[in-house]
Amino acid sequence: MEEQKDIKKIIIPVAGLGTRFLPLSMVTSKEFFPLVDKPIIQYIIEEVKKSGIKEVVFVTSPGQKTIFHYFQKSPELEKTLIKRKKDKILAELKSFEEVFDGISFSHVVQKTPLGDGHAILQAARRLEKEPVAVSFGDDIVDSEEPAIAQLMNIFKTCGTPVIALKSLPREKIPAYAGLTVEKIANRLYKIKKITEKPSPEEITSDLTIVGKYILTPEVFTYLKKAKPSKKGEIILAEVFDKMLDDGKIIYGYELKGEWLECGDKTKWLKSFFYLALKDPRFRDELKQYVKSIK
Ligand code: UTP
Repeated sequence: MEEQKDIKKIIIPVAGLGTRFLPLSMVTSKEFFPLVDKPIIQYIIEEVKKSGIKEVVFVTSPGQKTIFHYFQKSPELEKTLIKRKKDKILAELKSFEEVFDGISFSHVVQKTPLGDGHAILQAARRLEKEPVAVSFGDDIVDSEEPAIAQLMNIFKTCGTPVIALKSLPREKIPAYAGLTVEKIANRLYKIKKITEKPSPEEITSDLTIVGKYILTPEVFTYLKKAKPSKKGEIILAEVFDKMLDDGKIIYGYELKGEWLECGDKTKWLKSFFYLALKDPRFRDELKQYVKSIK
C-alpha cells in the first residue's frame, strides 16, 4: 500500500512551562507574547494557513484556554464597530479573522510538562495512520514560502521524517542540538546523528534543529516506547537519534528564510526588533528613536 504523502494536520505543542520567561510566563504562556502587534502563535497559524493545512491540534497545559478564545470570530465587537462607524478597525478585525477562517482547531491536554516529545505523543489519538506536521509554539520563520510548506515539499519526495534545519555560528551550537549530516542536494541532508547540547569536540556541522517537522506514524511508535531522559522528559530529538541508531532514514532541510527564535528573553526581543524594523508602519520612527537612545 502506498504511504500517504499529503499532510492534512499540524500538531502545535504549547504546554511548556516557559521558565526562561519568568515572571511573565506566570500570567501568559509565551505563545501569546507579542511580536510587534500580534502574538507569536498568530504568525504560526498564518504559516499553517499559507501551507494549506486545515486542521490544527494544539497540545495545551490543563489551564490553557486563551488559545481557543483568541482564534474565534467576534460578532459582538463587529456589530459595535459597525454601529460606531469604525471602518478601519473593522477592516483590521476582518483581516485578522481571515487568518484562521477555514481552519479547524482542537486540542489535547498534556497533564504534566514531560517534554516536547511527550507533548506531541498526546496528540497521537487525533491521528489516523498518517504523516503530520509539527511546529513548536515559539519558533517562527520569516520567508516567502512558508517553512512548513518547504518541509511538506521535501516529504512528498522522500516519505520519511523531515526536520527543519538552520545553520548557526559554530560557537553557538553547544546551546542547541548538534547534527552530523551527509549532504544530498542543495539544502537537503541525510541526518546521521543528533547530539543534544554537544560539547565543542562533538560538533561536526554548523547545522541545528528548528522546531518544525514532518513526522511519520513510525515516529509515534518510537515516541510510545521512549524512556524519559535524565531530566525525566521525553525529548523528540533524542527519539530521532534512537531511530537513526536503528538505521531509520531521516532527512533534514535547511529552511529558506530568517529564523526568528522566541525561546528566551534575548531571542524574543531580537525577533521583535527584526519584525518591527521591517514593518513600514514603524520602521523609520523606530530607527530614529533607537539611534537617539544614549
Ligand atoms: P521549550 O523547549 O522551549 O520548553 O519547548 P518550555 O518548557 O516551553 O520553556 P523553558 O525551557 O521552560 O523556558 C519547545 C516547545 O515545546 C512545547 C513548548 O510549549 C514549546 O512550544 N512543550 C515543551 C510542551 O508542549 N510540553 C513540554 O513538556 C515541553
